[in-house]
Amino acid sequence: MKTTVMKTRTWVLINIFGIALGLITVSGIVISSDDDTHEKRWGDNIFKQSRLDVAPVKNTFYNDECGACHFPYQPGLLPARSWQRLMGGLEAHFGENAELELPDAQQLTDYLVKYAADTSSYKRSRGISRSINKNDIPLRISETRYFRRKHHELSTKMVKGNPKVRSFSNCELCHTQAAEGFYNEHQVTIPGYSQWDD
Ligand code: HEC
Ligand code: HEC
Repeated sequence: MKTTVMKTRTWVLINIFGIALGLITVSGIVISSDDDTHEKRWGDNIFKQSRLDVAPVKNTFYNDECGACHFPYQPGLLPARSWQRLMGGLEAHFGENAELELPDAQQLTDYLVKYAADTSSYKRSRGISRSINKNDIPLRISETRYFRRKHHELSTKMVKGNPKVRSFSNCELCHTQAAEGFYNEHQVTIPGYSQWDD
C-alpha cells in the first residue's frame, strides 16, 4: 500500500517536471520568434536580453535618417506622444532643418511609436515612461526626470564644458555600448576623465 502511494507521488512529480520543461521550451520558442523586441536565439541570448536597458535599433532606414547628425536614439527612450510631436516639427528640429518627405516621415513615426517607451517592457523604457507626467510631452530624453536623476552627479565641466562631450545628447560618447542597447552605469566612461567612479 505504502509503496503504491510513493510510486504515484514519484510519477506525479516526474510529470510536473516534464510539463515544466515543456513550458520552458515553448516560451523559448515564443520569445525567439518575436525578433524585434527580443534577441533571436534564446539559448545564447536570454541572459544578455535580461541585461539590455532598451531594445536596440534594428531598422536601417531609421539608423540612416535619424543617425545622420547624432546617435540614433532608441524608440524606447521616449513615449509615443513625444515621438509624434518631434516628428511633426522636423523643419525646426533643435535649431536644424531635419525635414523629410512625408511618406518617409510617416514610416519613421510608425516605427518610433511602435517601439516607444510607454509600450516597451524594457527596464529603462519603463523607468523613463513612469518619470514623465502624463500631460507632459518632452522632446528631449535628456530632459526627462528619469534622465536627470541618473545624471545629476555629473558636473557641467564634465559635459557642457567638456570639449570632448559638449552635450548630454551624445549618449554614445560615454555609454560605449549604447548602440547595442546597454546604458549600464558599469559600462560608462567620460571622455577626458580617466576614471568615472560614483
Ligand atoms: C540635420 C541634423 C539632424 C537630423 C537629420 C536629425 N536630428 Fe535630431 N537633433 C539634431 C540636433 C542638432 C539636436 C540637438 C543636439 C544637442 O542638443 O546637442 C538633436 C536632438 C535630438 C533629440 C533630443 C536628444 C536629447 O537631448 O535627449 C532627439 C530625441 C532627436 N534629435 C531625434 C531625432 C530623430 C528621431 C531624427 C530622425 C527623424 C533626427 N533627430 C534627425 C539634429 C538632427
Ligand atoms: C557625459 C557622459 C554621459 C552622457 C553624454 C550620457 N550619459 Fe548616461 N550616464 C553617464 C554616467 C556617468 C552614468 C552613471 C551615473 C551614476 O552612476 O551616478 C549614466 C547613467 C545612465 C543611465 C542609468 C544607468 C544605470 O545603471 O542606472 C541611463 C539609462 C543613461 N545614462 C542613459 C543615457 C542616455 C539615453 C544618454 C543620451 C541621451 C546618456 N545617458 C548620455 C554618463 C553619460
